[in-house]
Amino acid sequence: MTTVTAAEAAYVVAALLFILSLAGLSQHRTSRSGVVWGIAGMVIALAATVGLASRSITATGLVLIAVATAVGAGIGLWRARVVEMTGMPELIAIMHSLVGLAATFVGWNGYLDVDPGLSGSLLGIHHAEVFIGVFIGAVTFTGSVVAYLKLSARIKSSPLTLPGKHILNVGALLAFVALTVAFVARPNIGLLIAVTVVALALGAHLVASIGGGDMPVVVSMLNSYSGWAAAASGFLLANNLLIVTGALVGSSGAYLSYIMCKAMNRSFISVIAGGFGTPAAAAEEGEQGEHREINAEETAELLRDASSVIITPGYGMAVAQAQYPVAELARKLRERGVEVRFGIHPVAGRLPGHMNVLLAEANVPYDVVLEMDEINDDFAATSVVLVIGANDTVNPAATDNPSSPIAGMPVLHVWEAANVVVFKRSMAAGYAGVQNPLFFRENTQMLFGDAKQRVEDILRGLDALDAPVPEMAGTSR
Ligand code: TAP
Repeated sequence: MTTVTAAEAAYVVAALLFILSLAGLSQHRTSRSGVVWGIAGMVIALAATVGLASRSITATGLVLIAVATAVGAGIGLWRARVVEMTGMPELIAIMHSLVGLAATFVGWNGYLDVDPGLSGSLLGIHHAEVFIGVFIGAVTFTGSVVAYLKLSARIKSSPLTLPGKHILNVGALLAFVALTVAFVARPNIGLLIAVTVVALALGAHLVASIGGGDMPVVVSMLNSYSGWAAAASGFLLANNLLIVTGALVGSSGAYLSYIMCKAMNRSFISVIAGGFGTPAAAAEEGEQGEHREINAEETAELLRDASSVIITPGYGMAVAQAQYPVAELARKLRERGVEVRFGIHPVAGRLPGHMNVLLAEANVPYDVVLEMDEINDDFAATSVVLVIGANDTVNPAATDNPSSPIAGMPVLHVWEAANVVVFKRSMAAGYAGVQNPLFFRENTQMLFGDAKQRVEDILRGLDALDAPVPEMAGTSR
């Protein structure tokens, strides 16, 4: 068996492992094994690629590859170890930017170092690949950098609204097509610089035009773009595994974006065009009225008397790391015969499945964790809803205020329950920057403070309610 056939066989094995990895990652029960399959596939892919390269490069080249791999793996391990769960989207965004940058460099290298054996139509195809690779790579690069800056709050998450922004986007796409035709006919560095600049500007503009509440879809769309950028590099480098892996990432990212668009009631096409999030009018928030407050002891009494409770967690539960006392609270209430379930919004938190991961970590049984569509009809028959650090995902304005920036986004109908207790630290708006009329409804009470501390206070309150009342002096017989 030659090195080439061995490497190609290893590539097939690695591609199968990546498919198994995606299948495993699609459910939280199997996600750990999905990660292991992915790691195994990547190790095999790296070994096969270095084996292939070793036929044509010097010992110094191999040492450089080893050093680059060690540095990359070191940075990856370090970031993965220190990142907070809530910081995952920004880490993913910055990783995507590196894929885009790499694809742009591969494209430039494809122009500067053309295989002398290529001529005629094959050379034309090569130059088209160079252009497409540079374009997708550069759009992914700046789009991901802007997403990183927005997600990490280094720049404002409100949408940029340049006059004629759609015309600018369409103009950039037409310029790309015209430049590609000109480049294939007469390749030159001026055209390559021009397409790089157009793509860098387009990527930044596409993501800058998107509003805060729509960022989850953008992150998964950039995930998809980074896959297509890798696939484009695969064509340039004639590397089958890069093509297959890029296509897997590209198509699964696009499908995830589609699912999220459906969950958020957004148009998939307008996401790709970077067009949504902006035109919706600013919310007419006006006078909201008074809010009512409740303390932990009163909440404990409310829960003691409840027959059914639904807990809807959100980003604040992740920030407070409140999942452990929340799981303990659910366990205690269930022991008392209260029906306790969790209602999970598809974009609660900051990454897909964020709440499911936290609840699984705290050993909440899977069968009481229900998706939004499974539980939304049950709120009306529920005694108490505990909204723990959620805000946008329980905002009734999405259903009854057409001028709200989140109008049309499906939300958890928590306000239909008899009593709603909202755990948060202040009256501040959620991620989308929109005030929440839920806080001012008659059946809603605010429990202010850090979610973890307040849930622990409620646990103590329940214990105190259970404790036998000491007999008053002089009342004993
Ligand atoms: P958010 O709308 O982000 O609201 C979270 C609330 O938690 C805030 O209002 C905050 O209020 C409260 N909070 C923060 N720290 C807290 C703490 N220590 N204790 C108690 N409360 C705390 O939450 P959500 O309902 O989960 O909605 C998610 C939002 O993020 C959506 O707009 C979604 O589009 C967006 N997003 C989602 C994703 C994915 S994929 N899930 C990715 C990016 C963006 P205080 O400051 O007053 O405490």
